[in-house]
Amino acid sequence: MTFEQIYRDMTARLGDEAAAFCWYFFDRSPVCVRRDGGEAPPDTVKKYGECMERVLSGEPMQYIFGYAPFYDLKILCEPGVLIPRYDTEVLVEEAIKTLPPGSVFADICCGTGCIAAAVLKHRPDTTAVCADISGAALRLTRQNLQNNFLDGRASVIAFDVFGDWNVLPKVDAILCNPPYINEADMKKLPENVRREPAEALYGGVDGLDFYRRIISASAGIFKGAPHIIFEIGYDQGKALPLLSPYPCKIKKDLSGNDRICIIRG
Ligand SMILES: C[S@@+](CC[C@H](N)C(=O)[O-])C[C@H]1O[C@@H](n2cnc3c(N)ncnc32)[C@H](O)[C@@H]1O
Repeated sequence: MTFEQIYRDMTARLGDEAAAFCWYFFDRSPVCVRRDGGEAPPDTVKKYGECMERVLSGEPMQYIFGYAPFYDLKILCEPGVLIPRYDTEVLVEEAIKTLPPGSVFADICCGTGCIAAAVLKHRPDTTAVCADISGAALRLTRQNLQNNFLDGRASVIAFDVFGDWNVLPKVDAILCNPPYINEADMKKLPENVRREPAEALYGGVDGLDFYRRIISASAGIFKGAPHIIFEIGYDQGKALPLLSPYPCKIKKDLSGNDRICIIRG
């Protein structure tokens, strides 16, 4: 099989997804692969076929290739832990811009640790506590912090949002992308999202369980006034201010959808 044939095969079978697949597989764009020309080595062709079948079966590329690009980091991913989304970078950007100097922040529901890693990298004055209920998530968070030389500035702890908040230290701010998909939308998830853990997605019947709990249970955790930056679903921008006893600001993502909620006491 030539690189030209691989190029045609990728674009025909994956359409808009071909470029992402190509970057993961070849570390360059489809146009560069075509330009390379000539016969592809047999082991490349074999591996290409295997990866293509997995993608076509609905397996997320980030699980197949083991990482996701996030902000300016390569975040390790594995099945059982939510794949970081570009939408979450809005939360990261807000935190980088607005956390007070020397802040200690909690990344609650940390998953891969992508939020904490990106914020710590760009705010070297800050330190973090990363917390999640999932052992697999906590392992990945430790690895992602280590790979980016950030583990010295963060602790990683097992924590249930609906359990005891006294296990957390006092912090200046909470950053949190909680599970927020409601019951009706959970039934309509696309095949590739169904491969991700439901516990990382499901936010209760109306999708708001985690916000209610975190807003009420976190009251005693702040060193000063409450300061929470939540990621929210595109249709939750009206509900969040109703849950918060403190002033609440909604900001949009790059697609113009409501995406983060900033609560400041
Ligand atoms: C939407 S994912 C966010 C992951 C990561 N912060 C990100 O932005 O990619 C939600 C995370 O909440 C965690 N989680 C679910 N239930 C939890 C609970 N009761 N207490 C703490 N974490 C929980 C899941 O394990 C998952 O990692």
